[in-house]
Amino acid sequence: MTVDVPTQEGAPSGSPKLAAARRIAPATGKLGVLTPGMGAVASTFVAGVIAARRGLSPPIGSISQMAHIRLGTKTENRNPPIREFVPLAGLDDLVFGGWDPLSANVLEAARTCGVLEERELGTISAELEGVVAMDAVFDQRWVSRLDGVRVKPPASKWDQAQALMDDIESFRSAHDCDRLVMVWCGSTEAFSEPAAVHQSIESFEAGLKADDEAIAPSQIYAYAALQSDVPFANGAPNLTVDLPCMEELSRLRGVPVAGKDFKTGQTLMKTLIAPGLKARMLGLNGWYSTNILGNRDGEVLDAPENFKTKEVSKLGVLGTILQPELYPDLYDEIHHVVRINYYPPRGDNKEGWDNIDIFGWLGYPMQIKVDFLCRDSILAAPIVLDLALFMDLAARAGNSGVQEWLSFYFKAPQPSGTADVEHDLFIQQTKLKNTLREWMGEEPVTHSEAG
Ligand SMILES: NC(=O)c1ccc[n+]([C@@H]2O[C@H](COP(=O)([O-])OP(=O)(O)OC[C@H]3O[C@@H](n4cnc5c(N)ncnc54)[C@H](O)[C@@H]3O)[C@@H](O)[C@H]2O)c1
Repeated sequence: MTVDVPTQEGAPSGSPKLAAARRIAPATGKLGVLTPGMGAVASTFVAGVIAARRGLSPPIGSISQMAHIRLGTKTENRNPPIREFVPLAGLDDLVFGGWDPLSANVLEAARTCGVLEERELGTISAELEGVVAMDAVFDQRWVSRLDGVRVKPPASKWDQAQALMDDIESFRSAHDCDRLVMVWCGSTEAFSEPAAVHQSIESFEAGLKADDEAIAPSQIYAYAALQSDVPFANGAPNLTVDLPCMEELSRLRGVPVAGKDFKTGQTLMKTLIAPGLKARMLGLNGWYSTNILGNRDGEVLDAPENFKTKEVSKLGVLGTILQPELYPDLYDEIHHVVRINYYPPRGDNKEGWDNIDIFGWLGYPMQIKVDFLCRDSILAAPIVLDLALFMDLAARAGNSGVQEWLSFYFKAPQPSGTADVEHDLFIQQTKLKNTLREWMGEEPVTHSEAG
């Protein structure tokens, strides 16, 4: 069943004629949110949703839950919350599950990573303990710093994919889910590049059967999700759905995919500051970013092959925002350096320093220093929620392939075509909101004098 939304009822006379709304299937029944990886981010996400639905704390940082969206011209005064404007699954309808080679359940994961304090965990501990991790498809060659114990028995990659599909179906029926989405919250895998095996569904399936070394565990999860008609979003920088075989499979099955790497601490700041510098036509010589981080993610990223994956994802941002090809006088030679140092005393409470060398009128140099004492998983958890809800919405709206309109949430957004992808947070926000307006039959907001 599908519904046509919205009606034009209530629109003031003289408002622009509405375009045709998409037919979007309603969000009936339960939505299962599956996370491969039940560590700091996933446990903070689950705990926050449970706290929000019990009324213990509002879902701060979540666009889908807290942001309003302007409709029509300024004078119309239509500003509904996004969650009332588009037919999203409600927080009460979410059920959680996932896989992890170390954590037994979400409570254990939350206590191990130490993001949330006992005063938050205590009241919801039984519910968190009930979210039990399934045995993971894990291969230490991709995450050398972890020694997985709760893993599926050795089998071919093809059989591992079948086992994941069985898990997905068991979860779907055990929890009576109407729909499922999967968000990768697992460790960052070692750096890899697309190989011959990734070029088509056919070659990938042959590779699964032949145990091809170029196939990473995250890719096996993504394949199992898409084959089970489950949308897949990638929160880590590893090569997972940004592959020809996965894009082909997502279109063939009619299932959305998105990636990659949650945009949280330092890169969030970068995509806030860089568009401002460019808007004022101020020049940039260099941007030196360094971090100390002491959680398990930091430990995994301490291995050079895993850090390389993260570094590539973080470095792409500035060039695309600043467009040196258009502004050679301002951005021709930017020295962009990113470092992450594993420093256990800080746990999840990362500290990120940025030294930004800029120049202005007559070339005079200036410096900006940022010291962001951030909490990584506190920033990442609402992104998991929004991605789960918006990916489910996209599926019900009949979208498949890469969901570029969700670039807002990613450090290295996956393009849906050959054109460069947008990194500027404010353009990404406009794109996200205009996509929702368009789906609901509303005009895009351009902020022109006329509107
Ligand atoms: N926290 C942030 O702000 C942030 C931002 C961007 C990206 N990320 C990425 O999100 C991911 C999760 O971050 P985190 O802080 O929760 O890390 P974490 O180390 O606390 O959790 C990751 C979990 O993934 C599990 N895992 C590893 N391989 C797996 C596999 N094959 N199958 C299932 N589970 C597996 C690990 O056992 C671990 O419990 C990391 O890749 C990280 O780089 C995090």
